[in-house]
Amino acid sequence: MKKDLLNISDLEEGDFEKIWRKAKKLKQNLKNGKPHASLKGKTLGMIFDKSSTRTRISFEVGMYQLGGIALFLTSRDTQIGRGETIADSAKMMSRYLNGIMIRTFSQQSVEDFARFASIPVINGLTDLLHPCQILSDLFTIREKKGSCEKIKVAYIGDGNNIANSWIEAAAKLPFSLALACPEGYDPDRKIMEKGRKEATEGITLVRDPLKAAKDADVLYTDVWTSMGQEAESEKRKEIFENYQINKRLLKAAKKDAMVMHCLPAHRGEEIASDVIDGPQSVVIDQAENRLHVQKAILEILL
Ligand code: CP
Ligand code: NVA
Repeated sequence: MKKDLLNISDLEEGDFEKIWRKAKKLKQNLKNGKPHASLKGKTLGMIFDKSSTRTRISFEVGMYQLGGIALFLTSRDTQIGRGETIADSAKMMSRYLNGIMIRTFSQQSVEDFARFASIPVINGLTDLLHPCQILSDLFTIREKKGSCEKIKVAYIGDGNNIANSWIEAAAKLPFSLALACPEGYDPDRKIMEKGRKEATEGITLVRDPLKAAKDADVLYTDVWTSMGQEAESEKRKEIFENYQINKRLLKAAKKDAMVMHCLPAHRGEEIASDVIDGPQSVVIDQAENRLHVQKAILEILL
């Protein structure tokens, strides 16, 4: 694997298997109470410019379980917030830490950080991508469905960071991806063009959620308003009104379709309460797997 995990596009075929095999073993060890301190004495810096529950807890607990420690850093409370450059921060932090995880706004900032850092940098979400989430979601699909091969994933909603990372994954792995997004809220154009060229099972983008959901094995959604877009929230509620995963949409999918959401969820908006809390939803298992998959990533990179 490369030095950093900045996106899914940079991963090679064997990397996916490597991560998931390790994640499975780490999950088993944890469930069996078997200690696995492979990162004893190692440190991970975690820079957060945006809120987080799952990413922070799973990385922090993950490092602890592997025998290392994680430092929670916010730009506001560090000199980064007072204008210290990315270059200086990255070079200097590389002398203290063994790895850095960053959640911020611009993808470019994470890439710049990685360029100047001599230690691995992990993208913990940007406006453009959320690679750790989708790597973990694919692990969940494999657990529940046996494989991701030939399955159909329907993504309903905003063409945001989650949608973009799904497209990058569909470009690399043999599953089909059908996206339904309202006009003006499509995924990133470049990522979509590249994905469509490279995908073996196809990536489609339609306006009608029912069309995307038809015969899907997985129905996936995310918030209508991502972090940083709060001012658009009311407008988005109107535009996305028909882009909700509810019982009607679930009927269009396969009988045994699984409902996924990266969380946090807004019940009554992108997903109906009776669906997210219903028998086909796997959202809590999905959230748990962030821990195991990220531990695998940490073990490989650090
Ligand atoms: N899904 C996810 O990344 O959750 P957090 O924003 O809580 O980290
Ligand atoms: N699209 C959401 C994902 C949160 C995990 C956001 O960026 O806020």
